[in-house]
Amino acid sequence: MKLAIVAEGETEIGSRGPEPDGNGVSRVLIERLLRVTSTTRLEVVTIKLARELRRGEVVKHGEAETAALAVERADALGCDGLVLVRDADKHEQQRRQLNSDGLEAGRRKLTRPFPTVLALQVRMVEAWLLADAGAFARAFGQQRPPLPRPVEELWGQKHDQSSNHPKQVYRRALAAVRVPHDRDAAIRLAEHADLDTLARECPEGFGRFKTDFERAFRPFACVVAADAANGIGKNNNLPWPRLKADLKHFREVTSSAPAGTRNAVIMGRRTWDSVPEKYRPLPDRLNVVITRGQLDVPAGVLLASSLDDALNRASLTPDVDRLFIIGGGEVYRQAFDHVRCREIYLTRIEATLDCDTYIPDVRGRFRLAESQPTHHDAGFDYRIERWSRLPPST
Ligand SMILES: NC(=O)c1ccc[n+]([C@@H]2O[C@H](COP(=O)([O-])OP(=O)(O)OC[C@H]3O[C@@H](n4cnc5c(N)ncnc54)[C@H](OP(=O)(O)O)[C@@H]3O)[C@@H](O)[C@H]2O)c1
Repeated sequence: MKLAIVAEGETEIGSRGPEPDGNGVSRVLIERLLRVTSTTRLEVVTIKLARELRRGEVVKHGEAETAALAVERADALGCDGLVLVRDADKHEQQRRQLNSDGLEAGRRKLTRPFPTVLALQVRMVEAWLLADAGAFARAFGQQRPPLPRPVEELWGQKHDQSSNHPKQVYRRALAAVRVPHDRDAAIRLAEHADLDTLARECPEGFGRFKTDFERAFRPFACVVAADAANGIGKNNNLPWPRLKADLKHFREVTSSAPAGTRNAVIMGRRTWDSVPEKYRPLPDRLNVVITRGQLDVPAGVLLASSLDDALNRASLTPDVDRLFIIGGGEVYRQAFDHVRCREIYLTRIEATLDCDTYIPDVRGRFRLAESQPTHHDAGFDYRIERWSRLPPST
């Protein structure tokens, strides 16, 4: 996934000049929300507000126009989505509206679905850095001084050193724990903050951002059956006969959704071809087929030009709840490394068959979370397992 982070300040994206190095609080928080690990892929593109939006030209735009330009630029750079980071030390409702309108205007000009999320730093980034007292203890080994009021209410003159403006409170808090007031300190706090605490303490700012981000870039699961050697297919078909309990499990996992919603099943074009016509599209689920070419599909089936495009099309369909990748080999290979792939439902067949299509091994990337008792069908023993992505620290 290629994600654009559009922001202004050095603390947020890491530079005072026109070329941000991307090393800042925004990236840290976004990578933590996505639970980026050494086995997942995320490409971050940082765009500095105002300056970079007009290719280096320094032009001042209105708030909404800037947001719309950010979408245009991120789209031109081939990004799969965008986070727009804005400060709001006052008039936050108005700022939220202007930025949301601008993002929407930008999206309307595009011919593809494009998720955009506003990270409105209510009471500025300093409020987010102050919000979790535990982060000070974990990052610097010292307690943060108590705050005079809830962090989104801290207020005072920005340039009055004795005021309760978040910038001043933050500066004093760092001085009290004898830590230099620089970008590294901010990054360490962002790395050590508990994100749920941040969401609770900053409901208007980080809380709304976290909810919107997790909805726009929601995780997905893969559902796959493989033999003992990770074989999954032969001659664009399954290498084994009908396995009743596995088919029931596949239907139940991919179809179970809260009332009024349905899940999406995303598949490669060859897997779509392999499903007999009378069984497709898979009922009660949004079917999304990935192809580099053209394809005639029944009404209601979506076509996508890449895995990320498929994830975006499914996520932006209003009644869709969970997203499942259902094959085949080429698509699983992309999905297993994808930053949003959190789980794999793996049916492990205890035999080695003649296959021409394989999945990568799940071990090393995922850990076994659940294993059902062995099933016996059509002369095969198999176990239905659930694997979860290894946490970022391992
Ligand atoms: N055991 C299981 O659980 C399971 C599940 C599903 C499938 N299978 C098996 O897996 C085999 C099929 O797998 P496969 O690897 O041959 O094919 P596949 O992954 O199903 O489909 C590959 C096709 O998807 C499209 N595609 C993939 N990545 C793309 C991308 N990034 N951008 C645009 N298009 C992309 C391309 O379509 P175009 O060629 O149209 O451009 C590509 O040829 C079959 O044997 C099937 O039975 C097994």
